[in-house]
Order: sequence, then C-alpha cells, then structure tokens
Amino acid sequence: MQEHNNADKIPDRFDIQPLFPHCVVTECCRIKNIENDFYPGEHACMEKAVAKRRNEFLAGRTCARRALGALGMAGRMLGKGSDGSVLWPAGITGAISHNNRWCGAAVARCSDVTGIGFDVETVKRISMNISRKILTRQEMIWLSEWPGEEAQKMVALIFSAKESVYKALYPVIKTRISFFDAVITPSPDSLSFDVELSKKIADHLPPCSRLTGTCLFHDGDIFTGIVYKT
Ligand SMILES: CC(C)(COP(=O)(O)OP(=O)(O)OC[C@H]1O[C@@H](n2cnc3c(N)ncnc32)[C@H](O)[C@@H]1OP(=O)(O)O)[C@@H](O)C(=O)NCCC(=O)NCCS
Repeated sequence: MQEHNNADKIPDRFDIQPLFPHCVVTECCRIKNIENDFYPGEHACMEKAVAKRRNEFLAGRTCARRALGALGMAGRMLGKGSDGSVLWPAGITGAISHNNRWCGAAVARCSDVTGIGFDVETVKRISMNISRKILTRQEMIWLSEWPGEEAQKMVALIFSAKESVYKALYPVIKTRISFFDAVITPSPDSLSFDVELSKKIADHLPPCSRLTGTCLFHDGDIFTGIVYKT
C-alpha cells in the first residue's frame, strides 16, 4: 500500500509522552495546512466537511500513523466509526485530539492497555460559563477555592480531563457518558487528576476500577491523558 507521508508538512512537535507510560506511543504537532492529501478510504467521511475540519482530521490521522509506525504498523488506513471513534487496526487502541493549534495521537497495543484518553483544549476557549454545564457540585466546591485566572485554567483542566475520560472509556463500554458521570479531582502540583465515575458507568467496568490521569499546561493550552487498564 502506498505510504502517505504528511508528517514532514506539519513540523513543530510538542512532546506529550510525559502524559503516558512508555507502552503508549505518542505524536503531537502544530496543525498546518496540509491540503487534501487524504489517505485512500478516509476521504468519504470528510466529503462535506469545511476546510478547517478536513485539515484537523488529516493532521490527527497523520500523527496517529506516525505513532503506529513506531509499533511496526506503518501505512494503515484509519476509518471513522458511525459514533465518531477511530477504527484502529486490530490489536491497537488509541485516541486523537486537536484544537486550533495542535493535533496529536496516542496509541498502544491492546495487550498493554484497554483504553487511552487524550485531549487538548485552548484554555481561554473554555469560558467560566461552561462550568455550570460540565461541573458537578463537588467540582464547583473545589473550584471555588481558586482565584479568577487560575480558576479558568482549572475549569479547562476538568473539561479536558472529562473529554479524555470519554475517549478512553466509550470505545470499551459503548455507552454515552455525560459530564456528570465523572467527578475530576485535580492535583495541580503533581500535574495529575483522579476520576470518580458514577455508578451507572462504573457498573460497566470491573469492580474497583480506578482511573487517574495526567495533565500539562503549555503556552495557553491544556493537554490531558488517561490510560485505562483492566
Ligand atoms: C467526542 C468528544 C469527546 C471529542 O472531543 P472534542 O474535544 O470535541 O474534540 P477533539 O478534537 O479533542 O477530539 C476529536 C476526536 O475524538 C475522537 N472521537 C470522536 N468520537 C469518539 C468516541 N465516541 N469515542 C472515542 N473517540 C472519539 C475522534 O478521533 C475525533 O477526531 P477525528 O474525527 O478527527 O478522528 C466530544 O465531542 C464529545 O462528544 N463530548 C461529549 C461527551 C463527553 O465528553 N462527556 C464527558 C464524559 S465525563
């Protein structure tokens, strides 16, 4: 199969490996205009998309393919499921995320991890008004201890952590997870967070499943990562 190599067209890497253990392979780059260089079989789901969306879709898949190459799986087509998730090659799990600047992917063998969550958000785009829609009462109380600008960073962290939870668990449990199904308790000093799931979601997982994640703030963006192992 012909190998498409968009990677050289999106320089400026950012190292997201600290978010994950070594069995997870990562790639994260600036989004650049990489034109319509679609991989065979991936074009159909982006036919009606605007240029910005096509670009981020391609950039995310380029990162994913580079990461898969390091697992000895170069040149794979990565389709899109009807639920929006990536159709990874057999035996592989992973996650993709993009914001207006960055695109990234984290992948691993299913023999090493069950699910991966990865997310990047622009801190300033997560307004304090969003907090009412995504924060539980417990999270609101935790947030009230933080002053203005710091509070906004913490809302962005919690929002991103919840998106990572969704990406790590949805492909495993195939059940919608609402923002109120996960309580995030950040530990900003150790750049980590704990996740407590609602009973409705926890019932889909083996007893005592514990989820923790890691975060990185970088130049106005927040990156979060989660690895779920059964
Ligand atoms: C699906 C969702 C998590 C994507 O996150 P986002 O911040 O909007 O966008 P991102 O750029 O970070 O991620 C988009 C990528 O997520 C992945 N994705 C989409 N649906 C997915 C799903 N059901 N399962 C796993 N990954 C999914 C795709 O790879 C997509 O990129 P692509 O279309 O280019 O392949 C988000 O749109 C969503 O639906 N959130 C509501 C549910 C939720 O978060 N609940 C909180 C649980 S605690």
